Amino acid sequence: MIVNFDKYIDSRHAKLSKFDSIESLYGTNKDTCISMWVADMDFNPPQSVITALQKEVTHGVFGYYGSNKSFVNSVKIWMKRRHDWDISEEWCSVVHGVNSGIGMGLRAFSAPGDEVLLFSPIYYSFFNTIKNNERVAKEIPLKVVNDQYEVDFNELDKRLSGKEKIIIFCSPHNPGGKIWDIETLTTLADFCRKNDIIIFMDEIHHDLTYSDKTHTTFLKAVPEAEDMSVLFTAATKTFNIAGCHTGTTIIPNPKLRSIYDQEHAAFGKTPNRFGMIMTEAAYREGEEWLDQLMHYLEKNKNIFTTAMKSLNKVKVFDLESTYLAWVDFSKLNISEEKLRNMLIEEAGVAPSFGSGFGKAARNFARFNLACRREILDLAINRLTKTFL
Ligand SMILES: Cc1ncc(COP(=O)(O)O)c(C=O)c1O
Repeated sequence: MIVNFDKYIDSRHAKLSKFDSIESLYGTNKDTCISMWVADMDFNPPQSVITALQKEVTHGVFGYYGSNKSFVNSVKIWMKRRHDWDISEEWCSVVHGVNSGIGMGLRAFSAPGDEVLLFSPIYYSFFNTIKNNERVAKEIPLKVVNDQYEVDFNELDKRLSGKEKIIIFCSPHNPGGKIWDIETLTTLADFCRKNDIIIFMDEIHHDLTYSDKTHTTFLKAVPEAEDMSVLFTAATKTFNIAGCHTGTTIIPNPKLRSIYDQEHAAFGKTPNRFGMIMTEAAYREGEEWLDQLMHYLEKNKNIFTTAMKSLNKVKVFDLESTYLAWVDFSKLNISEEKLRNMLIEEAGVAPSFGSGFGKAARNFARFNLACRREILDLAINRLTKTFL
C-alpha cells in the first residue's frame, strides 16, 4: 500500500504537546507559528497500529495485559530483521518509555551524587532525568569535524574525576543524527572498561537511517561490552506513536539484568495495554510503511539542507539519521534572545532551542523535518526571508 505522507491530518485538537505547549513554551500562537520542536511526526502511524487499536476498542476489554511474551518476541524479530542482531527474549523488559527506563537504570547502577557522563549537545531530557534522580550530569563537548560531531576521547580522559558511574550515549545521536562508526563504539567500550563505567546506550532513533548510512547496534558492534551495557529502545520514534509510552530495555548480562530488574520491580512492572498492542502491531506489520517514510524524509532532509546551506552565516549538520536537523546560527554573532526573536517572532517557526541540549549549543536550533512537504516549504520560505 502506498502511503500518502502529504495528506493533511487535522491534529490541532488532538491534545498534542506539539501544539498545545506552543503558547507556554514560546509565547506565541499555535495557529500561526510552525511547530518544529518536539520529535513527533505529522503523519499517521502504519495502518496496522490503527487497526490493532480499533480492535481493542471494539471488544472493549481493558484489563491488565497478559501477552508480554508475544510483545517481546516481536522485539526480537524486529532486531534480527532490521538490525541483524540476535537477542534473547529474556534480555528484554518492557518500560514506560526510554526516559523512564533510563531513570530506573540511574537508580539501579549509581547513587545520589554520582556523576553521569554525557557527550553534549545531547537530547535535553537526559539532563532532567539525571538531576531529578539526584545524580550529576557531566558534559563532555563533542567536537565538530566536517559538519558532523565526533567524540573527543582526549577531552574525556582529561575531564575524568573518578566519580563517574554511568555514561549515557545516544546512538544515533540526537541532535544532529550522527551515526557512530564501529571504531568510536569500540573506543568508547574500551574507555568505559578501563574506568569502570556502565554504558547506557539509547538507540531510540536506530530505525530512522538514510539510504547511504547503516547504524550498527552497539552490542553487535562490540559484543564483548555485554557485561557493562544496558540498551534502550522503542518503536515510538520510528512509527510516530510517542504517546503510547512503551519501550524496551535490553540487558544481555544476567548480573546487570537482575540489578535492573530489582529497581524496575520497585516501580511496578505492569505494562500499558495500549502501548503493548500498538508497538507489537508496528513491529510486526509496519516495515513497509517505515521504508516509505524514510524515502519521504530523505527528500525533506535534502530540501531543508540545501535551503539552509544557501543562507548566509547559517550552517546545517549533515543529517545521517533521524528527522531532527541541527542548525548552527553562531556566525550571526547575535545573542540567544535575539536568535529566539528572529525565529519565533520574525520567521514564525518554533524549533527546539540549542541551550537545552548543552552549554555550548546556545546559538543552535533543532528543527523537526517530519512534516508534510507543504509545511516544510512554508518553513523554509519563512526562514529564508529572515536569515538571507
Ligand atoms: C534520544 C532520545 N531518547 C529518548 C527519548 C524519549 O523517549 P520516551 O518518550 O520513550 O521516553 C527521545 C525523544 O525524543 C530521544 O530523542
